[in-house]
Amino acid sequence: MSNNITFPPLIGHRGVKELAPENTLAGFERAAELGLTWIEIDTTLCGSGECVIMHDDTLDRCSNGHGALIDFNFEQLQQLDVGAWFAPSFQGEQLPSLSQALLYIDRLGLNLNLEIKTYQQSPKHMAQAVCHALSQVEFSHSLVISSFCHDTLAELKVLRPDLALGVLFEEVPTDWLCIMRRLNAVSLHCDSDLLNETQAKAITAAGYPLLCYTVNNKKQAEQLWQMGVTSIFTDNPLIFNK
Ligand code: G3P
Ligand code: MG
Repeated sequence: MSNNITFPPLIGHRGVKELAPENTLAGFERAAELGLTWIEIDTTLCGSGECVIMHDDTLDRCSNGHGALIDFNFEQLQQLDVGAWFAPSFQGEQLPSLSQALLYIDRLGLNLNLEIKTYQQSPKHMAQAVCHALSQVEFSHSLVISSFCHDTLAELKVLRPDLALGVLFEEVPTDWLCIMRRLNAVSLHCDSDLLNETQAKAITAAGYPLLCYTVNNKKQAEQLWQMGVTSIFTDNPLIFNK
């Protein structure tokens, strides 16, 4: 297992979720200002078929809109405010499409872990939409695409065998190596609270970078790094400066 992607100890989660509204351009900018070199963001599909940057399949938590994301086209979504719910200083922030986000992140000089949330889409449709957005932008930094939906990753592998794929798990299953090999994945991503040291050692011994979400506690992060974990996803990198 070898590739030329190098992951840092800290990756900004959904941009920097605790310091700026998640999955927004303002958040990506804040991550870059803080010196992060990688961020993770989520993408899913909206009603007009574009990939947009949002974690949930509903608008309610992270915007001034309500209802299912899939019931709105991109033009309607652009009327929403996705910053003010977080803090008044972020008022006016617009929901980015995946291609807008890719362009912005690339200009900021950041490397990217793009997580696909397939929700009720077919894996094939979801993979096609992601590929369409990727074809619109020349992303010049490192890009790893991950998903809990391994069928979506399998479809992506067929459409774009050149893409680097990361397999997302909650708890690492016993057949993890088989899944990694089948998808020709470059990295394994899992829930930090469900990982044990034996698994961590086996994953890294097999040559896979091991990335854990979501860690906002310095002591826990140090224990994970000690176990051989490559990177942790954090909502707040400032915790690690203390
Ligand atoms: O990609 C790691 C992590 O973001 C997965 O969980 O729910 O925060 O997208 P979630
Ligand atoms: Mg995510």
